[in-house]
Amino acid sequence: MNILLLGGGGREHALAWKLAQSPRLGKLYAAPGNPGIAEYAELAALDLTDHAAVIAFCEARDIGLVVVGPEAPLVDGLADSLRGAGFSVFGPSKAAAQLEGSKGFTKDLCTRANIPTAGYVRAGSREDALAALARFSVPVVIKADGLAAGKGVVIAESVADAEAAIADMFDGGFGEAGAEVVIEEFLEGEEASFFALTDGATIVPFGSAQDHKRVGDGDTGPNTGGMGAYSPARVLTPALEAQALTEIIAPTVKAMADEGMPYSGVLYAGLMLTKQGPKLIEYNCRFGDPECQVLMMRLETDLVDLLSACADSRLAALEPPRFSADVAMTVVMAAAGYPGTPKKGGTIDGLAQAEADGARVFHAGTALNPDGALVANGGRVLNVTARGPSVRAARDAAYAAVDRVVFPDGFCRRDIGGKEIAREIERQSGEGNAQG
Ligand code: AMP
Ligand code: GLY
Repeated sequence: MNILLLGGGGREHALAWKLAQSPRLGKLYAAPGNPGIAEYAELAALDLTDHAAVIAFCEARDIGLVVVGPEAPLVDGLADSLRGAGFSVFGPSKAAAQLEGSKGFTKDLCTRANIPTAGYVRAGSREDALAALARFSVPVVIKADGLAAGKGVVIAESVADAEAAIADMFDGGFGEAGAEVVIEEFLEGEEASFFALTDGATIVPFGSAQDHKRVGDGDTGPNTGGMGAYSPARVLTPALEAQALTEIIAPTVKAMADEGMPYSGVLYAGLMLTKQGPKLIEYNCRFGDPECQVLMMRLETDLVDLLSACADSRLAALEPPRFSADVAMTVVMAAAGYPGTPKKGGTIDGLAQAEADGARVFHAGTALNPDGALVANGGRVLNVTARGPSVRAARDAAYAAVDRVVFPDGFCRRDIGGKEIAREIERQSGEGNAQG
């Protein structure tokens, strides 16, 4: 089967790597792809907002499955256009992608389906938002309704900060995304990402991960797209995962189907593990980046089988996916300046050495110079990913590989997985004491 993979970051490199391991793959195409993806795929320059051009490409190359990596084309309805032309697509329809595309849509769905989430008010004007603010205590969370590349969320510690965030959003600080805001109760707890594949009827749990969103060690500095992740997230115990499935994921999938917007693809739930149980922070309608990299590093099942069964509503007939018991960790190497304006063009070397002991370096934002040299071409540049029997072992392997990468203009966090490693050490000493 020929496959077209859309996107060009580390998430898509990890997907390409895994798709390429399948005996069912014919030819892989990627648009736009990146130099890492080019090892497995023929790259194509396609304008993803030009649906007719994407359809024509698929027709000319006998594409059996289109895998959509990022959210923007899904929220824009590319999956609908492709399905309308008869193609199988991994990724939700425009209506179903509202779960990511509109925070207010998701909050209202949670109300209708009785799904645990933070209390909230939607507001379409500055006046309404300021009036609603009085109903919340601080800290309070102010969110732009639409897609804002992970930047449309402000956790306001004071009423003045909340008012400033509301003013900023209605003044266009987040573009169209801020034309409406959601004001939310602040939830306390630890966060975990939980993934499920669904074809609209069958739901298949697809692993968990923990991301590290702040740019600096110790969770300091501004938010980013994610500076590193590991999988599985042990804080999401099997009992909590089962609770999240029955109380959050299943009622969402059912409500979407009942309301005529069946959700097909991967549903990525950002969860807060509160004292009252898991609560939904947000949904994403695609794999997390860099969470996908650690999931792919652990996945043992054929990815072409999984994604095409999901696209063709055949998940019920498939064996559940198998994941290695190992922990996988990915460390993001970013270009100086990120998450502000990243420095472009920094030279990158040492990738073969970094991969010598089994680590994988996924390309997130790289390009080839005219002379063939690999350079930085984005904020998040490389995702150095490794496995081990514990978080500590995965961490040691990942950072050993990081230290072999020669990227003088790059930086990374040094504490990915740190909290879980501390718990791991505590558990081991507890076991030691129990045995001794
Ligand atoms: P989101 O883009 O909705 O995932 O929000 C970005 C980050 O803001 C989340 O990963 C959380 O760390 C934080 N956040 C969002 N909503 C809440 C909330 N209601 N309570 C506490 N933290 C939140
Ligand atoms: N790593 C967070 C996200 O993909 O949204």
